[in-house]
Amino acid sequence: MFAASRLPLRCWAEIDLAALERNLRLIRASLPSHMRYVAVVKADAYGHGLPQAAARLMHAGADLFAVANIAEAAALREIGPGWPILLLSPILPEEDPYLAEYDLIATVSTSDEVQRFDAVGRASGRPVTVHLKIDTGMGRLGVWHEQAEKLYDEIVAAKHVKLGGVFTHFCSPDDDLPFTAEQRRRFLAALDRCRGIQLNQLFIHADNSAGLETLEKAGPFNAVRIGLLQFGILPHSHSLLAQVKTEPVFSFRTRVGIVKMLPKGTTISYGRTHTLAHDSKVAILTAGYGDGIPRSVSNRASVLIRGVRCPVLGRVTMDQTIVDVSDVPDAARGDESVIVGRQGSAEISISEFSVWADTIPWETLCSVTKRVPRLYKTSLGL
Ligand SMILES: Cc1ncc(COP(=O)(O)O)c(C=O)c1O
Repeated sequence: MFAASRLPLRCWAEIDLAALERNLRLIRASLPSHMRYVAVVKADAYGHGLPQAAARLMHAGADLFAVANIAEAAALREIGPGWPILLLSPILPEEDPYLAEYDLIATVSTSDEVQRFDAVGRASGRPVTVHLKIDTGMGRLGVWHEQAEKLYDEIVAAKHVKLGGVFTHFCSPDDDLPFTAEQRRRFLAALDRCRGIQLNQLFIHADNSAGLETLEKAGPFNAVRIGLLQFGILPHSHSLLAQVKTEPVFSFRTRVGIVKMLPKGTTISYGRTHTLAHDSKVAILTAGYGDGIPRSVSNRASVLIRGVRCPVLGRVTMDQTIVDVSDVPDAARGDESVIVGRQGSAEISISEFSVWADTIPWETLCSVTKRVPRLYKTSLGL
């Protein structure tokens, strides 16, 4: 058996950890100095690789990590003992004991959770830290904002639960500023009704990447929860956050397997959705939807080969994708082909690619499959 890592690369992702570190530092520098940085590293750090990304974010000065579930938290514990870890998704009752075992911070939305986590704290002899989540209009996790003070009282009354923070989540911070402002108002009003709350001793957070555009510099907010932007991706095309000047961390590359000429009129790939308008030179790439090039980019995306944009012809297949290289005179077997990223001065951004795929950068990142090795650039590059 050959170790996969010794084999030549057919399709791979390059992760620039130095850029990740620079991005965190740039985001921090753009924020008021009292803001703490919650690094969101769920879903394998948005496909970048949890251990590598988190280790670098620890080095860069993240204050707290947020993951979706216990398995991700356990993986994070392996690399950063003692680092505070917040679980953003609901915890199943069978998972409760792991809160104590891995010393995790739970999100609380219901009375039932307060009781369960209190029982965990009692059994382990150490209180379970929780962040109270307030639903201000997302309609997902959190206690509805009008009932938040009741749940707050229950948390305070529970002997083996310790309140470590209060937070909410915006549903449309990128395109509905009035509703985002309304969510902030609801959150602040709910906090006001929590009697005796010591805001400055808690993490008070609402802002994800897009939220930063309307971050309230005054007021009780003292932490931000950043995912996408730390990976150098803007939450939307007209984002004010462009001025922070983060840079992409991730690129997605494959190779040319063969180059061949095909006559005018040939139909390309399954379903014959593309017909060559003239004699064409095509390249067959060594990656397909089995690697994370979604079928939805069939006949829509382009890739970079020798710095030239080459359109995808016909349907993307599981392991191969066909592109037109008629405009690349020297295109040859073995050439690197960039699906997302830079090649010379040319670039295909993940946002552009996601438009072709009818999706969002978050999903594009999460869709790069396990078959794709992640290669890490580790230079300090500060
Ligand atoms: C609760 C919560 N907070 C923060 C984030 C980070 O969001 P973003 O990647 O837009 O910064 C997410 C991402 O999905 C989330 O679910």
